[in-house]
Amino acid sequence: MSFQVALNFEDGITRFIECRPDETVAEASYKARINIPLDCRDGACGTCKSLCEAGRYDGGDYIDDALSDDEAAVGYCLPCQMTPHSNLVLRIPSSSTAAKTGAAGHSATIAAVKHHSPTTVEFALDVDGRDALDFLPGQYVNIAVPGTDQTRSYSFSSGPAQRQISFLVRIVDGGAMSGYLTERARVGDRMEFTGPRGSFYLRDIARPAVLLAGGTGLAPLLSMLEDLAQNPAAQPVHLIYGVTTDQDLVHLDVLEDYAEVVPGFTFEHCVADPASTARNKGFVTGLMDAGTLHEGDADIYLCGPPAMVEAVRGHIASLGVTPASFHYEKFTPAVREPRETAEAA
Ligand code: FES
Repeated sequence: MSFQVALNFEDGITRFIECRPDETVAEASYKARINIPLDCRDGACGTCKSLCEAGRYDGGDYIDDALSDDEAAVGYCLPCQMTPHSNLVLRIPSSSTAAKTGAAGHSATIAAVKHHSPTTVEFALDVDGRDALDFLPGQYVNIAVPGTDQTRSYSFSSGPAQRQISFLVRIVDGGAMSGYLTERARVGDRMEFTGPRGSFYLRDIARPAVLLAGGTGLAPLLSMLEDLAQNPAAQPVHLIYGVTTDQDLVHLDVLEDYAEVVPGFTFEHCVADPASTARNKGFVTGLMDAGTLHEGDADIYLCGPPAMVEAVRGHIASLGVTPASFHYEKFTPAVREPRETAEAA
């Protein structure tokens, strides 16, 4: 028996390793040829100190100089001492390069291309050796655009446990992936990608969660909902999904389905275009008050364009609410390496 440990590095690269309950995370990392920061290996120096963002473990033996009680209470841990009691997600204080690893590469075949509207295309991939691809719900990969020297970043819209992976793409004029998907993509085409990447992923749900999506920023939140469908949380989860025009709206039927199967899940959507037929016209901020945010006792996950992220941050501040945690990812269509992920406590 072993548990899965996600090692998230400072440069956004995530590597997954297997760790038995009777071995330390450092030992398992070493076996996987991943050199996480280590010095004493004895719980004395604190060099390996990392943040555990999900999972249960035995912290092992160490001295206060290496890890204080206050640090341990908020999730800091010592991989040279800790042994897992469940799957874990650790934030490692080094780059993947320093740990002599990097993003994993994968090959895949296009299984489906669906043109939802002139603005939005979805595609699905069958990955070669699917079992070798692990990711956390909310993460993204860098995909090489076939026939070009370009790569683009897209968040998984599928859940980690689904065999086929999928992505939502906003179609932009002159975009490399947009051109490929609208003009040349065929089922059976080959694709290459690297990852997973990013710190925008679903943490353990310990309080109500509010998910905010702008346009195709819905994709990583769909991945989170799929994960919640498999691993239900005992907390309410509310999604607010905003788009610019009616033709940008996708997967309302999928959200309805999740509302049936994910306990405590509710959602609303809004369209900015005044000519929309949607019940709610305007921006996601128009559907957020202090009650929606549980007066701050909520974890917020936001994925959308930069202007939306800034508008939401300003709106939350104007409500006088400080959320327990605020995870966001900004994306800019058609820009190479477009991701900016961050969080604020
Ligand atoms: Fe020194 Fe872990 S390597 S405390």
